Amino acid sequence: MTAHLLKKGTIVRTNPATEQHGHSSPYDVFAIRKDFPILRQKVYGKPLIYLDNAATAQKPQVVIDTLRRYYERTNSNVHRGVHALSQRATEEFENTREKIRDFIDASDTREIVFVRGTTEGINLIAVSYGDSHVSAGDEVVVSEMEHHSNIVPWQLLCERKGAHLKVIPMNDDGELLIDEYAKLLTPKTKIVSLVYVSNSLGTINPVKQMIEMAHKKGICVVIDGAQAAPHLAVSVRELDCDFYVFSSHKMYGPMGVGVVYGKQELLEKMPPYQGGGDMIKSVTFAKTIYNTLPFKFEAGTPNVGDVLGLGAVVDYLQHIGYPAIAEHERDLLEYATARLSTVDGIRLIGTAKDKLGVVSFVLDGVHPHDLGTIVDREGIAIRTGHHCTQPIMQHYNLPATSRASFGIYNTRDEVDALVASIDKVKEVFK
Ligand code: ALA
Repeated sequence: MTAHLLKKGTIVRTNPATEQHGHSSPYDVFAIRKDFPILRQKVYGKPLIYLDNAATAQKPQVVIDTLRRYYERTNSNVHRGVHALSQRATEEFENTREKIRDFIDASDTREIVFVRGTTEGINLIAVSYGDSHVSAGDEVVVSEMEHHSNIVPWQLLCERKGAHLKVIPMNDDGELLIDEYAKLLTPKTKIVSLVYVSNSLGTINPVKQMIEMAHKKGICVVIDGAQAAPHLAVSVRELDCDFYVFSSHKMYGPMGVGVVYGKQELLEKMPPYQGGGDMIKSVTFAKTIYNTLPFKFEAGTPNVGDVLGLGAVVDYLQHIGYPAIAEHERDLLEYATARLSTVDGIRLIGTAKDKLGVVSFVLDGVHPHDLGTIVDREGIAIRTGHHCTQPIMQHYNLPATSRASFGIYNTRDEVDALVASIDKVKEVFK
């Protein structure tokens, strides 16, 4: 089913919630900050400085309002009711599917499947596509910088099938070795699954080139776009990936919802991932006929309210504009890299030429958890740990790093505050 209700360019103007947000260039970070109520609070008596955006980003008022409006006015099950609320919920849900199609430049809404998030999306692909295309002795290729959610589902697939997981190595800057990748693409390779932007290192991988290389050998490519979605405008048609997966919560939308894009000709042939309501056309004890795309992959009642929240944040981000967001975040990254590089005892982890939004580091003689705890007392939220990427930690022979990750509302002053708080850490450990 293709919805035609919202055409590109009309979305922002017709959404009263986003009407209020008059951000246009030049980038007005202080106006943007006002859209995020959570940022107004103090933590330990200090203004909250939220630099943990790679773990999850904060939600603008427009998302909160959308959820509230949905539960106050619309809440109802979709695709199942003749009554007014169900009709309205279905229309808003399907309009959002069209909005997402437009957002990632897919050809058709049949290619947009709503899931719980990137993790569920990759599991869906590994089970539904993987189980029917991978056999004993075949190979699946991932990279050394994958999130656990883009490793473990493929390991499970390989265990089920007697297949092998192959790993593209990276250099110490955190850049994938493309020559080594080329060597891993063999007649045994059935799937390549790659992270677009590393959540731990910030590296932007040359996925377009890597997709082309795999396609020359007829290999299917999955892209984990979780960390790209808040920062980069994506055209799945231009990338020509076979599958693209991302989460709402990392791009300022609600938790618990995400998207699987798959090429229609692939999705058509894939078996359902889960069985239940809505994914069927008819059920008898003898035989079940599955529903058409995308519903074949959406068993059970979907997370309607949060899908609408995701739609609202897509409007919001498009209204600010991805080029402006990218420029703002590039400035923050360069500034933070320069400032942190001057701190005695700090080593940056992840120094790829092409990176965005993330600065991981270690401080001599201080465990990241201690650093994170002291910095927290200054009201500054960063993440410390392995960031769900233990193989990256193994590469650098580290137990953990500290990671500051930037979003649309962060400022240079906040970077200065982080650097000042690290000076305090050094005082404590002197
Ligand atoms: N994957 C999330 C992170 O990077 C949780 O912190």
